[in-house]
Amino acid sequence: MAAPVALIQGASRGLGLEFCKHILKYKSPAAVLATCRNPDAAAELRGLAGQHSDRLTVFKLDVNLEEDIRAAAERVRDNFGRLDLLINSSAVLHPSGRGETSLRDVTAQGVISTLTTNAVGPLVMARYFAPLLQKGSGGFGRQPAEKTERHGGIIVNITAKVGSIGDNGLGGWYSYRMSKAALNMATRNIAIELGRSRPKVVCVSLHPGTVNTDLSRPYHKNVPKDKLFSTEHSVSCLMSIINTLSIEKTGKAYSWDGTELPW
Ligand SMILES: NC(=O)c1ccc[n+]([C@@H]2O[C@H](COP(=O)([O-])OP(=O)(O)OC[C@H]3O[C@@H](n4cnc5c(N)ncnc54)[C@H](OP(=O)(O)O)[C@@H]3O)[C@@H](O)[C@H]2O)c1
Repeated sequence: MAAPVALIQGASRGLGLEFCKHILKYKSPAAVLATCRNPDAAAELRGLAGQHSDRLTVFKLDVNLEEDIRAAAERVRDNFGRLDLLINSSAVLHPSGRGETSLRDVTAQGVISTLTTNAVGPLVMARYFAPLLQKGSGGFGRQPAEKTERHGGIIVNITAKVGSIGDNGLGGWYSYRMSKAALNMATRNIAIELGRSRPKVVCVSLHPGTVNTDLSRPYHKNVPKDKLFSTEHSVSCLMSIINTLSIEKTGKAYSWDGTELPW
């Protein structure tokens, strides 16, 4: 079987960068395509590409620009002809860097911008990469014995527990919560549509826990030390879930420990 191909969208830093490192280390000989909106500014990612020039390719993709997404999909089609794993990791908490604490903080531009990056972007990624995922060789996840239930590619949308409507007892963070709830609806819709295709494509939302990255940095002081995960720990938990995904698990949201998240 040809080496699996994974595309990590939003790979310049944080969890996206860690997914690249993890797959390079533990999923040899998988090829990793790492996208970010400004490769010149992504020094650590470029350093990694220097160490793994035979397996890691970096290219520009701003998830808010449909032409970037289309061009990336064409490039993957021309070079590989298929895709086995797509991880949409990019997101913003809010353009200001802080979530709204009250309605008074809400601005139309803040909401629209957050929704565009966090929900619209991953959906448009699915639109352009679906044909390649349908040609995936099933190199990620776990294949059942039943041939008709086997999957080609997998889409992972990195969500957040705060996007769960059922779990929301605290309020606040209007833009971010709404964007992740919308992303979860996209996950469900994609899973239904691509679960009907042959071969099937699996699509799930995964919550990484509270992780020590730039996105959550303004809030780290409120998080008990043992509840603030390193990127290594979080990605290792998420990859354990990804490695056991099959079509029967599609269309759902899971937390880092494998438990199902309520919508
Ligand atoms: N950290 C947490 O505690 C936590 C908790 C729950 C869920 N999450 C989720 O985990 C995922 C990863 O977040 P993180 O913690 O790794 O955050 P991070 O360190 O702030 O990284 C965010 C990434 O998103 C990229 N990005 C933002 N806008 C983009 C755009 N328009 N196009 C392409 N890339 C863009 C950034 O690229 P630039 O370098 O170009 O800005 C960066 O690579 C997100 O979906 C987040 O919502 C995180």
